[in-house]
Parts: sequence; C-alpha cells; structure tokens
Amino acid sequence: KFDQNGATRSSSNTHVVFLPFPLQGHMKPMLKLAELLSHASNFHVSFINTEYVHQHLLPSIDIQAFYRRFPNFHFLSISDGLPVYHPRSGKHAFELLSSLRAVTKPELCKLLVSLSRETEEMRRQPPTCIIADGIMSCSAIEAAEEFGIPVFTFRTYSACCTWTCFNLLNLIEEGEVPFQGKDMDKLVTCIPGLENVVRRRDLHSVCRVKRADDPPLEFIISQTSAMRLASALILNTFDELERPILSQLSSIFPKIYTIGPLHGLSNNICINDDPSFALASRKSIMWKEDRHCITWLDSQPLESVLFVSFGSVVSLTHDQMLEFWHGLVNSEKPFLWVIRPNSITTENDERDDILMDLENRAKGKGLIVSWTPQEEILAHPAIGGFLTHSGWNSTLESIYEGVPMICWPLIADQQVNSRCVSDVWRIGFDMKDSCERSIIEKMVRDLMESTKREEVMKTMDKFAKLAKESVKEGGSSYCNFEKLIKDVRSLV
Ligand code: UDX
Repeated sequence: KFDQNGATRSSSNTHVVFLPFPLQGHMKPMLKLAELLSHASNFHVSFINTEYVHQHLLPSIDIQAFYRRFPNFHFLSISDGLPVYHPRSGKHAFELLSSLRAVTKPELCKLLVSLSRETEEMRRQPPTCIIADGIMSCSAIEAAEEFGIPVFTFRTYSACCTWTCFNLLNLIEEGEVPFQGKDMDKLVTCIPGLENVVRRRDLHSVCRVKRADDPPLEFIISQTSAMRLASALILNTFDELERPILSQLSSIFPKIYTIGPLHGLSNNICINDDPSFALASRKSIMWKEDRHCITWLDSQPLESVLFVSFGSVVSLTHDQMLEFWHGLVNSEKPFLWVIRPNSITTENDERDDILMDLENRAKGKGLIVSWTPQEEILAHPAIGGFLTHSGWNSTLESIYEGVPMICWPLIADQQVNSRCVSDVWRIGFDMKDSCERSIIEKMVRDLMESTKREEVMKTMDKFAKLAKESVKEGGSSYCNFEKLIKDVRSLV
C-alpha cells in the first residue's frame, strides 16, 4: 500500500537517526521500526549501534542484500566506553549502563556533526529527528538539544511498565519503594489506573533494593524523567490491549504512537510487499537459529507442545534448571526448551556437562535447542503454551499468535508484564518468585489440559484477533504508523 499510493514515498529529504539500547530485546523492535520507516516512507535512516553490537549484528545479516533493499539505510557505530572483551551482561550489566551514560552524549554529538557534514557527498539531509530508546533518553535529549533536533522516545516496554516507571518517585515518597523482600504481597494503591492490580512484587525489579539511591533504581528514574522532554512517545503495543494505561500516559505525552505488535506490522507491510525478502530484524540478531526443531514440531499433535524460552538475557542456576526439567517431565507434556549457551550461571566447563545431562534426560520427552526462530515457533500449530520469562517481545509475540503463557519473570519489566498477563488480560498464569518442580508441573497441566485452559483461551483468542486487526490496514497500530510517518515528514 505504501509503495502503491505514492503518498508516503517521496520524502528522501527526511533523515531519522535511531539510537537503540544495545541489548537484543531492545534492538529488535527498534530495528523493525527502522526497517519499516525505510521501507514505507523512503526516509534516510542512520541506525547507530555500539561498536560491540555492530561487530555481532552485521555478520548475521546479508548486508549487501540489505543495503540493496534499503538503499537509504546506514548502520553506524559509536563506542559504549568499555573495552572489547569486557563482559556486558549478568553482574556486569550495570557497568554497561553507567558507561553508556558517560560516553553516549559526546559520541552521539560527534556523529551528528559528521552526519550533518557528510550530507552533500552522501546525498542525504541533516538529521530530522532522533528516535531513541527510552533508557537512552538522557544522552539523546542532551545531544539533540545542542543540535536543535527533536527526539521521539521509543520505550520498548509495555505501556503498563512504562507507566509504573513514571510513578517511581511517587512510590518512593509513599514509602512503597524500595522494599527489598518486605511485604511483597502488599497491594500498591498509588499508581493511578493500577490501584487494584499491582503488588510490590509486581513492580520493576529495580525496586527490589534496600535504598532509594541504589544506582540501577536511580538510573531508571533519571532516564524516565528525561523521556518527558521528548516530542512524543512511541510504544510497541496496541490500543486495544492497554487503553486505560495509555490514557494515563497521555497526561505526560500529548502524542503517543502505539504501533505494535511491531513484528506483525512489519510482516504485514514489508514481507507482504515482497515475501522473498528476509528482513534483518526477522532473523536472530545475536545467535544462530536451530531450524531442525521446526521439523520436530511438524511431527507433534496440534497444540500439544509447551515452548520454553527465557529470552536473550536472563540466566538460571543449575538447581533452577533441574526444577524446570523435573516439572516439565512430570507434567508429561512434550516440550521445546531453548537453553542458550550462556543461560546457565556456572563455570564454563561445568556448563557443557549440565547441558549434555539435560539433553540426555530430555530424550523422548522433549527437545532442547540453543536458539530458535521464536516468531515462527509460536505460530506453529503444534505449540499449545509458552513458559516464558515475560520479556515484552516474547509476550507480544505470544499474544499475536494466541498462545497462552506461564510467566516466570526475573528482571526489569518482566515482573509487571507477568502480572498483566495473569490478572489484567487473564491470558496466562504468573509463577513469579517460585521455582519448584511441583508448582511447575501443576501450572503446565493447568495451561495445557484443564478447564482453566479453556477460560484463558477465550480471552487469549480475543486479544490475538485484536492484535492482528490492529496491524492490518485501517487498524489502530497501522494508522498510528502512518501518522508517525506524516508527523516526522512535517518536521522537515
Ligand atoms: C530484554 C529484557 O530482558 C526484557 O525484559 C525486555 O522486555 C526487553 O529486553 P529479552 O530478555 O531478550 O529482552 O526478552 P524479549 O523481550 O522477550 O525478547 C526476546 C526476543 O528474542 C524475542 O523477540 C524472541 O522472538 C527472540 N528469541 C528468543 C528468538 O528469536 N529465539 C529464541 O530462541 C528466543
């Protein structure tokens, strides 16, 4: 449609700079949006990775084919301030956050200068606006102010989690946060719109600390507060899912573009226009996909298999792995379990032994693989349920395919998402803060075969339908995406 009507095609004088947060779960929706804008509007796109991500991302893409398809798209890189071999995840994650906070503004300014200078030679205009991840807001806003460029803040989390983050100062004043381990089931009644839903244990994991000046908590508060200075908010969600909370957020942002589920929108717009083309963001960004699990799924009965995946960041201890293994096997349901090489918290040499042991034990009961094409797996007719860590992308992908969830959240927004899944949308069960084989077994049985499944499936089917409608032509997310293109173009 975008190609045919020409209305959205002629604006190569518009140049959007993307500043993603360098983590797969944040990069994926950002890259989808960048591809979509490049495809649908012909805008120039500069997509800024950290050098570390750049080295890992680009080898997984057929870059020549990509640039042929998107001639106005450029991947660029800046330093994240850490040496190449410095670990960036697990207990080192905060080192990445603080290093990024220190170096991104000067690095981005340098890059904006060169983007403005290069324009003649590269035949592109100076940057029109920056679309920055919500947790890169401080640096993005400070740099953009120096250049007089507007910033659109793209919070890649749910509207619910975004809203709870805007309430953190309020929660501290009310004495609800921090609460490290205290009165975890206490209802938190001072977040407008979520008064009867959220308990302490359902708040963003940065709240699970002793002191209000804990660095990760302060980091989230300051980045969230800087988001207020952005011209508009972009969210990977859809109106029909989070309407009441979106209306709360509109008290802060007069302009909100809800354009999710982005993978659905992207499939509708980019892939439908040219099914032969595999988008970069559709493929795995960091790991090689094991595709033989699709053949295995093909041989399984309809809706019989539980998909188990804890995303790209969290890791489990050996004991937790074993509890899950026992719970899954005792439930007697076949499972497809993603265990990334780095998802067991132990020494490297032990990790291989643990993995081999689990793989051997799984034989005949399920399949363990290191990474899958998850969007495709969730769409497979053999999948009947999803045991997930409740990362926002996984949650949206599951809703889109109508797959009910068991949520086992660990960090960040996952605590909020899992509560919404179980108690707001009622499309799954929340297993947070417990990892016992008997509970896992019961939850799996409930999700896969009981009358509870029937109840959950009724709402799940409704939301799946709404999600699909929202990204079709005329749907809410589709229209908001068109509006985003129009509004960005009007900045030139
Ligand atoms: C991180 C945070 O942990 C999460 O809480 C936040 O919402 C986003 O950033 P991550 O842990 O990776 O993300 O989870 P999630 O948001 O669910 O993203 C995982 C992505 O990896 C999904 O898009 C999923 O399709 C993909 N994936 C996962 C695969 O492609 N293959 C797999 O085998 C597993």
